[in-house]
Amino acid sequence: MSDGHLFGRLAPQAPDALLSLIGLYRDDARATKLDLGVGVYRDATGATPVLRAVKAAEARLLTTQATKSYLGPEGDIGFVAGLQPIIFGAGATTPVFGVQTPGGTGALRLAADLIAAAKPGARIFMGTPTWPNHPQIFDVTGLTTVAYRYFDPATQAVRFDEMMSMLATGGAGDAVLLQACCHNPTGADLTLDQWRAVAEIVAARGLLPLIDLAYQGLGLGLEGDAAGMRLVLEAAPDALIAYSCDKNFGLYRERTGALYAMSDNAARLELAASNIKALARANWSMPPDHGAAVVRIILEDAALAADWRAELEEMRLRIVAVRQALVVAAPSLSALGHQHGMFAQLPVTPAQVATLREQHAVYMAGSGRINLAGLTPATIPAFATAYAACLKETSP
Ligand code: LMR
Repeated sequence: MSDGHLFGRLAPQAPDALLSLIGLYRDDARATKLDLGVGVYRDATGATPVLRAVKAAEARLLTTQATKSYLGPEGDIGFVAGLQPIIFGAGATTPVFGVQTPGGTGALRLAADLIAAAKPGARIFMGTPTWPNHPQIFDVTGLTTVAYRYFDPATQAVRFDEMMSMLATGGAGDAVLLQACCHNPTGADLTLDQWRAVAEIVAARGLLPLIDLAYQGLGLGLEGDAAGMRLVLEAAPDALIAYSCDKNFGLYRERTGALYAMSDNAARLELAASNIKALARANWSMPPDHGAAVVRIILEDAALAADWRAELEEMRLRIVAVRQALVVAAPSLSALGHQHGMFAQLPVTPAQVATLREQHAVYMAGSGRINLAGLTPATIPAFATAYAACLKETSP
């Protein structure tokens, strides 16, 4: 179809499979349909509410915001600073530079651009399965993804030995993508001992850790979800952290995130900072304001911050309760009881995923990932029955 015109030279792209599920689910007329697809938190009524503290901060913003004039490529620096003790710990002392980004995806894209600017085509180690957007982001920035198997769906175990042997082949100039908590899509996080071993190998091999922290507070709690990552940050000379407020502040469509660079060397941190600002300017000039202003207002107000923490904890405990109830209803999924966050990767084939959708109106990602927050006490038995029936119908 290449007739010389630029559009004609483009390769067709398939629609994003995960986001396409939203439309498929919406158009399904069956009353019993179950949405376990895209990773948004849902409460026990199936709603994805605006958090109480967010509503209060939005009301305050409406009456107090005096201008919408530009802020600059760093975005809202009060927001960036307000998140720092939550991410790095109240007593953290390593110098950090941060900017606000359009969501966690913007932070990952900026991190990838920075790595590519430092070393075009640099290698980035990445465990699979992972969030399907990860490899796309690294591909478009020209990085070289080095994939290793992170997880075995059949045993529901992390292939830690395989991960460590792959990381041992890396060296200075390579990066490694690490999900800090609530692993997407598997829910299988590293133990603290495993994080300690990763920290050692990252330091010994001179790898740059790129930490994706998109679900802080929804696994073990705000502190517990950062503990393993902090071991790596202590050990690594330089690091990048991509942060998302989509899930823990429920700000999804407001696109609220941040990218932080850390270094124990002031000159290197300054280089990273100036490049991050220049790349942000070239990408989106300045990030959207609203979500970050809301988070800043919450974090600067003790009462709103306490209410945010309380509601986040309610969300976390609901997910834990769903995991426990699901394990009782579907004993073959007992490993899910030891995993964290909204996701689990079921040991199903793509054909079984299709059967669950077509025959049982159960919607999940094509990989077999389910969003546990899509289940409620009322729907868990129906899901367990559909899952067992599908396995029975489709097993060879
Ligand atoms: C997910 O993994 O479902 C979410 O992070 C939503 C997305 O953008 O893919």
